[in-house]
Amino acid sequence: MKMTDYSNKVVLAPMVRISTLPLRLLSLEYGADLVWTEETVDKKIIGCERKVNPATGVIEYKKNNRLVFATHPDERNHVIFQIGTADPDLALQAALTVKEDVAGIDVNCGCPKKFSIHAGMGAALLSNQPVLKKVRCRHVGVKVVTDLVTDFQILENLVQNSGLPVTCKVRILETPEKTRELVKMIEGTGVKAITVHCRTKDMRSSERAKWDALKDIVENVKTIPVVANGDVFEHEDVQKLKDHTNVSSAMIARGAEYNPSIFRKEGKLPVVDVIKAYLKKCVEVDNLPQNTKYCMLSMDKEKGHHTRSEIYDKMTHTKSHPSFCKLFGMEEFYEKERAEQESRKKAASPQDDE
Ligand code: FNR
Repeated sequence: MKMTDYSNKVVLAPMVRISTLPLRLLSLEYGADLVWTEETVDKKIIGCERKVNPATGVIEYKKNNRLVFATHPDERNHVIFQIGTADPDLALQAALTVKEDVAGIDVNCGCPKKFSIHAGMGAALLSNQPVLKKVRCRHVGVKVVTDLVTDFQILENLVQNSGLPVTCKVRILETPEKTRELVKMIEGTGVKAITVHCRTKDMRSSERAKWDALKDIVENVKTIPVVANGDVFEHEDVQKLKDHTNVSSAMIARGAEYNPSIFRKEGKLPVVDVIKAYLKKCVEVDNLPQNTKYCMLSMDKEKGHHTRSEIYDKMTHTKSHPSFCKLFGMEEFYEKERAEQESRKKAASPQDDE
């Protein structure tokens, strides 16, 4: 059984298209203790083929030649793979697929997006209501039955059978009593930590996170660390959040999306320096250029709005790693790194030379 300690940590949140490999590696370099992946739906990762890319050392999980998950040995003891799921068996298969490369599995029980809720995933799990599930029966083919699939069954199955530390991320419910009941039941499943995003599923991210709601949760969840999430935009906010609520750990989403150097205790670095450091990581792991661009543009934001700075305009008109590097005067780095990757690739399969 892998051991991952979730107490007294500052961690990168799961964010679709943002918490991909380069941002995770950079966040770790700046001081994040653990890094969550973006959510991957169970069926997407199940059946993927695992291969190590000899040029970059990146471990690639691919299906039909499409990259579903990329990771690197440097993050193995820190990366928490988040799944979107509504089914205990699929959740377990997904966890077992990536088991050897991750430090833990997290179940997203808080996503309020339509596609998640319709599929019985994300915040739909918070209601703990029976969900309609299609099952294949031996004699009658496919039929729809009401099956009591809850987040608790999903978590229990993962805890008992995955051999990995399991956590889950929830939102607060409408009343403190309901939230308390939910987190106590989750604690009872044997998870190693619970992350609470201090907003209800109907609250928008522009509304202030309800840190106050955490006090009651921390008082009631005694056996595992509570990870607080919501509105940490400066490193100092971590201590403020802890002083205010007694919470053990803090998870940062948009604060890290805009500037991952938020994980530095010494304070944030200028965004342009951070974008350059990020770009370096992207070239080193041969990230998908569309993803590199998306994340670089996301960093050039203030309070959630693009700065529309000169560099922002230039980035919008650029789409490949060599041209991004040119924009930031990093041509030499790019050429050197690509040459090294090429020679590592050749060394791994010398017959390509013949
Ligand atoms: C998110 N969030 C999110 N949550 C989750 O559990 N899985 C996910 O894949 C995503 N994806 C995602 C993408 C983007 C672009 C954002 C901004 C957010 C929610 C996120 O993890 C966090 O709970 C909220 O953003 C609140 O934290 P902050 O932003 O107030 O620190």
